[in-house]
Amino acid sequence: MISPVIRPRRLRANPALRRLASETRLHPADLVLPMFIREGAAEPLPIRSMPGVVQHSLDSARRAAADAAAAGIGGVMLFGVPLVRDAVGSGATDPDGILNVATRAIADEVGDALVVQTDLCLDEFTDHGHCGVVSVDGSVDNDTTLERYREMALVQAASGSQLLGLSGMMDGQVAAVRDALDGSGFVNTVVLAYSAKYASAFYGPFRDAVESTLEGDRRSYQLDPANRREGVREAQLDIDEGADIVMVKPAGSYLDVLADVAAMSSIPVWAYQVSGEYAMIEAAAANGWIDRRRAVEESILSIRRAGADAVLTYWAAELATWLNERG
Ligand code: PBG
Repeated sequence: MISPVIRPRRLRANPALRRLASETRLHPADLVLPMFIREGAAEPLPIRSMPGVVQHSLDSARRAAADAAAAGIGGVMLFGVPLVRDAVGSGATDPDGILNVATRAIADEVGDALVVQTDLCLDEFTDHGHCGVVSVDGSVDNDTTLERYREMALVQAASGSQLLGLSGMMDGQVAAVRDALDGSGFVNTVVLAYSAKYASAFYGPFRDAVESTLEGDRRSYQLDPANRREGVREAQLDIDEGADIVMVKPAGSYLDVLADVAAMSSIPVWAYQVSGEYAMIEAAAANGWIDRRRAVEESILSIRRAGADAVLTYWAAELATWLNERG
C-alpha cells in the first residue's frame, strides 16, 4: 500500500481545524438587504414568486429596516413600487414619490446604524417598464435618460440616501450622476455602479415584486450573458468615470465575471444575488429537495469566495441572524 506524504485532508479533520483553515467568512456587515416599498400599502403584501419577501408598507419597512440594523447588516437597498406610472417616470423625481418618501422614513428610523441606499433607475416608474426614456422610434434614448438620472440622483440624495445604486445600464451614467451630485453639494453621496449587469432571466421574480409593465426585453442596454470581457470593460469604464463601488449582477451564474472584476478593480466589488437565484433555492427547499439553510449559506459564501466584498441578498437579515446565533 502506498502511503501519501501530502494529505490535504489533514486540514479538514475536525471543525476547529476547518474553521481555522477557512479562506472565506460570512459576516453580517457584508450583507445588504434589498427592500420593496409599495405606495399606499397598509400592510406588507406577499410576493407570489418570492416566498418570504414582501412589498412593504411604510410602517413595515421602517420596522424591517430597524430589525435589519439590529442584526448588524451593512445596509438596505430600497426599491419603490408606485401606484401611477408615466412615460418619463415622473414618480422617480417627485420628492413625494414612494421611493423618496420611504428613504426619508427609513433614514429617519435607522440613523447611521446602517447605510440607506436607493435604486437609481426608471423602470419601476415608467408605464412602458424600460429603464430609460423611450424615443419615437421605440429605442431607449441614452442621453435623455441621463438627464432624468441626474434629477433622480439629486432627489434621492436630498431624501437621505447615502448610496445610489445606478442600475439602468446607460452609457456614461456614472459620470453624469457624479457631476450632478458634485454640482449640488452632494460630494459625499456614494455611487455604486451596477457595472456588469446582464440581461438575465433571473430577474423574473423581481418583475412581480415591482409590478413591472415591461414588454419585450432589456437586451439593448443590459449585457449579453455570453460576454465575459465586456463585463470587465464596463467595470473599468465605471471606475474611470468615478464610481465608488462596482457591481456584478446576477451573481451565481456570473462568478467568472465577478472573479475577473475583483482581480482588476481598485475599488470595492459587490455582487447582487438576484430574485431568481432566491426563488430557485426557496422553491427547491420548499419541495424538500435541498437543505434550505445550507444552500443559502453556500450560495452566498461562493459569491464572497469569487471576489465580492459585499453581497446584496434577500436573505441578508435572516443570514445575519444565523451568523449571530453561531457567534
Ligand atoms: C432595475 C433593477 C432590476 C433589478 C434590480 N434593479 C430589474 C431589471 O433590471 O430588470 C433586479 C433585481 C432582482 O432580480 O432581484 N431597477
